[in-house]
Amino acid sequence: MGRYAYVNGRYVDHQQASVHIEDRGYQLADGVYEVVGIRDGKMIDEALHIDRLDRSLRELRIGWPVARGTLGFILRELMRRNSLRDGLIYMQVTRGVARRDHAFPTTPVKPALVITTKNTKHLGADPGPGVAVKSQRDIRWERCDIKTIALLPNVLAKQAARESGAYEAWLVDDQGCVTEGASTNAWIVTPDGELITRQTDNGILAGITRHTLKALASSMQLKFVERPFTLAEAKKAKEAFITSATSFVTPVVKIDGDAVGDGKVGPTARRLREEYVRFAGEGEAVT
Ligand code: PDD
Repeated sequence: MGRYAYVNGRYVDHQQASVHIEDRGYQLADGVYEVVGIRDGKMIDEALHIDRLDRSLRELRIGWPVARGTLGFILRELMRRNSLRDGLIYMQVTRGVARRDHAFPTTPVKPALVITTKNTKHLGADPGPGVAVKSQRDIRWERCDIKTIALLPNVLAKQAARESGAYEAWLVDDQGCVTEGASTNAWIVTPDGELITRQTDNGILAGITRHTLKALASSMQLKFVERPFTLAEAKKAKEAFITSATSFVTPVVKIDGDAVGDGKVGPTARRLREEYVRFAGEGEAVT
């Protein structure tokens, strides 16, 4: 973790940082968050992440805690203070501090803003050996398009995956379709070379990495289709991979213990990872 955190208007020692026990995020998970990837001191797709934060806030009728321009300034200042070169910047907005009641506070409350950073290893064009995923029933609510801090189903699914030796959980709905990962979007490449990921609707989070990769795939002339795919189809796919701010493009080489394709990282995931890393290298460095 970075040395400093930003908490409601102040840059504070991360070890000492705290929020009020009546914060509605702490009490009721009444809040939203965003995670932006940082590579070589650059924020990846900052504007799109802030647009999604704005959408999440509007959907839940939580106000902006600071002006949008101010948020951009704070993100940069925290990156500089923490000398963040490779890692993540995490921002969380809750409805604020109020006497506990499920309904919204009846008197005006200032939304609470917490921002932290995390150093990670430098993610490069090499996708590594790939990861295993484990399927889990998708038991989440019907507004998975909102990036809320209420993540218990995701936490439990990820934990079950980790306990089985897998890196990520793939969530499966009542129709047998893979919606997304516990904290990633899910993709497959069909035996005839079509790139598939589920359409964005209330069933999944519209990933920013997904959005950018879609544009990169079209510039690479890959055949891309947005539609649901079943777990059975995924198990017969030529390739599979996950995308997120934390994992970029990471190949999936095993689903529930079965090899995907030949069990090795495939060429499509490899090329998309390379293109994504090239894209992430564009833009202006902050640190
Ligand atoms: N997770 N789906 C879910 C449920 C997610 O939580 C995430 C991101 C994604 C991918 O979105 P993006 O490409 O914008 O990162 C999809 C973040 C990284 C997290 O919770 O840590």
